[in-house]
Amino acid sequence: MPKILGICGSPRKGATEYAVREALKSAEEIPGITTEFWSVRGKKISYCYQCDRCIKDKTMCFIQDDIKGLEELFLEADGFIIGSPVYDMNVSAQLAAVFNRLRPVYLVHPGVLKNKVGGALTTGGTRHGGQEMVLQAIVNFYLMHEILVTGGLGGCYNGGTIWSKDKKAQGAMEDTVGLDTVKRLGRGVAEAVMVSSFGREKWLQMAADLNIDIEGKSPLRDH
Ligand SMILES: Cc1cc2nc3c(=O)[nH]c(=O)nc-3n(C[C@H](O)[C@H](O)[C@H](O)COP(=O)(O)O)c2cc1C
Repeated sequence: MPKILGICGSPRKGATEYAVREALKSAEEIPGITTEFWSVRGKKISYCYQCDRCIKDKTMCFIQDDIKGLEELFLEADGFIIGSPVYDMNVSAQLAAVFNRLRPVYLVHPGVLKNKVGGALTTGGTRHGGQEMVLQAIVNFYLMHEILVTGGLGGCYNGGTIWSKDKKAQGAMEDTVGLDTVKRLGRGVAEAVMVSSFGREKWLQMAADLNIDIEGKSPLRDH
């Protein structure tokens, strides 16, 4: 059963957590889709300080903290809905740390994320407070990991965007236009995950049958 992992980058139970959960609910309307939710809230997440041990030893990050609990969920998911509050027109520091700490996935688990699907959502206190920049930062993370990106069903553009007016979940609920983009994002990710899951299975089988090298040499990995 294809699974979508929702990741919330807000350190509190607020607009973003509400929005990610709403997107997951919409995704679950597609029969066969299962979802799981993970948040930075209450988690201990250290920063990456580029010791480069992961690169030298081809291992996941040696720092033992709550990122360890995310790694497995991240690798086994077929799709992702990542949400962040807008902090200074960017993703939250907590979410940036998550992204940084997952850096070695491409080395340790090459190809595992390839052609899976990701969607992005964000909540900002101001109507145009940097939401588009946050969506782009999340999309960039997907691109780094060979994850295909969808902005959701038509009209969402590059993802779900909420104007929370700094009123936590209540603010997100009141922004009915924004909430619609969040729900359509969830639905769009779910449909794309179905296509990608069935397609990947077929493609991997075909590649194996025809002896096609789908890994290839990577200038990043094989140095
Ligand atoms: C450090 C910090 C920086 C913020 N910067 C912005 C900003 O640049 N633009 C904006 O619209 N809102 C900004 N906000 C407001 C939050 O994005 C907004 O309240 C958001 O909905 C919070 O999400 P949450 O309720 O899930 O925590 C900022 C909030 C904090 C704490």
